[in-house]
Amino acid sequence: MDDQFTFISFLRSITTAPLFVSVVVVVVFTILFIDKHRHLKSPVAVNKILSGTMGWPFIGETLDFISCGYTDRPQSFMDKRRRLYGKVFKSHLFGSPTIVSTDAEVSRIVLQSDANSFVPSYPKSLTELMGKSSILRINGSLHRKIHGLIGSFFKSGYLKAQVTCDMRKLVLQSMATWKEDRPIYIQDETKHIAFQVLAKALIGLDPGEDMEFLRVHFQNFIAGLMSLPVKLPGTQLHRSLQAKNKMVKLVMKIIADKRIRSGASLQDPKDVADVLLNDKSEKLTDELISDNMIDLMIPGEDSVPLLITLAIKYLSDCPKALHQLKEENLELKRRKKNLGCVMCWDDYLSLQFTQNVISETLRLGNIIMGVIRKAMRDVEIKGYLIPKGWCVLTHFRSVHLDDDHHESPHHFNPWRWQNRDMSNGSFTPFGGGLRLCPGLDLARLEASIFLHHFVTEFRWVAEDDTIINFPTVRMKRRMPIWVKREN
Ligand code: HEM
Repeated sequence: MDDQFTFISFLRSITTAPLFVSVVVVVVFTILFIDKHRHLKSPVAVNKILSGTMGWPFIGETLDFISCGYTDRPQSFMDKRRRLYGKVFKSHLFGSPTIVSTDAEVSRIVLQSDANSFVPSYPKSLTELMGKSSILRINGSLHRKIHGLIGSFFKSGYLKAQVTCDMRKLVLQSMATWKEDRPIYIQDETKHIAFQVLAKALIGLDPGEDMEFLRVHFQNFIAGLMSLPVKLPGTQLHRSLQAKNKMVKLVMKIIADKRIRSGASLQDPKDVADVLLNDKSEKLTDELISDNMIDLMIPGEDSVPLLITLAIKYLSDCPKALHQLKEENLELKRRKKNLGCVMCWDDYLSLQFTQNVISETLRLGNIIMGVIRKAMRDVEIKGYLIPKGWCVLTHFRSVHLDDDHHESPHHFNPWRWQNRDMSNGSFTPFGGGLRLCPGLDLARLEASIFLHHFVTEFRWVAEDDTIINFPTVRMKRRMPIWVKREN
């Protein structure tokens, strides 16, 4: 598992790298991994069953994949091969023979499978940084326990109220600082808010010195997620490990304080750390909890800001949708004001059109374009053989932009989600199965709160900006907008 890439981590790692650097990184990593892959089955064995090409020796089709990624149609790599070989084909990407699935049904089965069939795989630098007990790395019963506890945190009524209140406060505090005579960079603003929301929801941290300490070291930490796997002093991986150690020390202190304050049991858990601390099994040590609090920030830190930023981009380009969204939110605001109560979790999530805007942003924006699993045994799905040791790339973007599933797929159309069943596997922005994103409600809630206050309290004009899709999704100019407060 250690020597493989996941799609997410690879893409995150080279966020700002130009094409040339990306190519060098890929070549270096590919060479590093060749040795480890010598034992894999020959591609000839699969040739009989799956069409596709393995590309050049060692680098496979990775360069073609990357160069398509830099265009405004990153899925063109997939589209071309789909036309030639069908929705599931073989390739060789990032140093590994890979089955690419752009088929909703095949991807759904891969995601639903347990660790006997498929496990996530990560590059060595990432596993070094994550630690052995990270939720992102572990499988089996410990994974189910931690995943379940985190998921249950967001389902308890008390905690929903707490998180909603914290989140609203942070969003409003940030918006209060906005000036009308200079552009607001939505991507930066949302990033700043999302980090604070995460730190509060995970370990109960309020803005202040410790938060700033954590934010600075977290940036150093993630810079090494996809560096060369060399730990020598002076290397990025070494710097990132040091940053993580500093963060772990702070989180350990917070956890020790929590234990002292609450004794044996926390009556009213207020954050994810409390929930894990309350678990009586001896498997969840303080060290494991601290490590996981930081690892939980990895998938949460960048994705929510992008969701909000993209929603604002699409709304800026679609006045009809913006008008309907604004009306829906104003109506609820008026109703709550008349009743004399503040909005709660259910209020935000009950805004149907707002949820449709968020779903459509997730479908069209493809913040996480897919995930990679590694086959632990030969697996046959819908007649396709996935040999042991091979990777499977379940490419969500291709399914989300497939006109077999979504009419005029490149068009932002939030109305398509009215009365629509989302459970047929053609919409999986949060993955699925045992590793379904436990932060999905948090992400939707945060986006709903931000959009609610944004559209009801401001008018804005967006400057021109472009969505970049590779290596990660982001706005070229960080989405500058000029705001005016509504009277
Ligand atoms: C728009 C926002 C988000 C998107 C699109 C998203 C997407 C995803 C996807 C696709 C996966 C599955 C990865 C896989 O199968 O290997 C995942 C897993 C995960 N996400 Fe999210 N996520 C978002 C927000 C968050 C937030 C806010 C948190 C923080 C609490 C979070 C925490 C996690 C964790 C811990 C996992 C790993 C679960 C496991 O392996 O058991 N995510 N996310």
